[in-house]
Amino acid sequence: MTDQAPAPYAGPERVLSGVQPTGDLHLGNYLGALVKFARLQHEIPTFIFVADMHAITVWQEPAKLKQQVREIAAAYLATGLDPKVATIFAQSAVPEHAELAWVFNCVARLGWLDRMTQFKDKAGKHKERESVGLYTYPVLQAADILVYKATKVPVGDDQKQHLELTRDIAQKFNNDFSAPGYFPLPEPLTQGPGARVMSLRDGTAKMSKSDPSDNSRINLTDDADAISQKVRKARTDPDPLPETMEGLEGRAEAKNLVTIYAALAGQSEAQVLAEFAGQGFGAFKPKLADLAVSVMGPIGGEMRRLLADPAEIDRILADGASRARELAAPTVAEVKKLVGYWAG
Ligand code: TYM
Repeated sequence: MTDQAPAPYAGPERVLSGVQPTGDLHLGNYLGALVKFARLQHEIPTFIFVADMHAITVWQEPAKLKQQVREIAAAYLATGLDPKVATIFAQSAVPEHAELAWVFNCVARLGWLDRMTQFKDKAGKHKERESVGLYTYPVLQAADILVYKATKVPVGDDQKQHLELTRDIAQKFNNDFSAPGYFPLPEPLTQGPGARVMSLRDGTAKMSKSDPSDNSRINLTDDADAISQKVRKARTDPDPLPETMEGLEGRAEAKNLVTIYAALAGQSEAQVLAEFAGQGFGAFKPKLADLAVSVMGPIGGEMRRLLADPAEIDRILADGASRARELAAPTVAEVKKLVGYWAG
């Protein structure tokens, strides 16, 4: 008898993603993730949450956490997510994430987690001092995705390894519990420029919330003056822009600014170079600053307007959580049966 390939997942497509409420959102979060959420909601049922359970894997001030969650929710709304179309909620309001994560903690192998580069980067040399939660962080992420049987996950490049782990967990669960095709093997959506936005001060480092230099990033809440100043101060080199992307090899900062321009303008990098080849940064930066202000400027204002009415944000999050639970609860009930829990 020949081995038959296991049955593939045959359920509907769903989009899921989330952002941690751990600091100001920046251009990297916007181009790598948020901008895609707003686009996808009109194509596939979309679930977007605020990852407050992930946030506490490192210390968060309890008195501030709820407000940080509202700020991310405001950013979702200000960048075009429509709560009537997409399901928007806080992770901690759907306890099924934690219930499924426990089962997945028993499916995932230590060796898989030992390979996670984000943990290594965050923990540095003193991993024994980090929380156990930080180590099992990607297992909770797998539960976030699979509790909705999501098939597409719009994220930046830095999340690809966590998505590979999610697929490994899904596949092992399906095998171990003789449930072929039960969980889908979700795909990261990282296409297009903007999947890896680099620091404005160092083209070899990722733009990040935790970079001590505020000039390294454009925050979603920056006003027009701050945005233009940061673009003007961005590190570059004295050479003119080349005709092709190959000509930007070894010029990390220059390449990053071209990529940012392309992502903000909805163009390819080749189109940007076709327009600006031969020009220096003295000419390119003001154009980039104008573009960044026109796209990013209104977002900060809209966030401030939304945050003036926290009760409305809370209402949207509560409504989203109850819709999310309608989908998550049956998954956890089925998983309990498959695992053989007494309380199944
Ligand atoms: P977080 O909060 O670190 O980042 C949110 C999103 O922004 C993307 N991103 C970037 N994209 C391009 N360039 C950059 N410089 C840049 N920096 C950040 C991230 O890739 C991410 O998409 N683990 C996730 C949160 C999470 C999640 C999930 C995501 C928890 N559960 C389930 C998807 C599905 C994170 O740390 O995001």
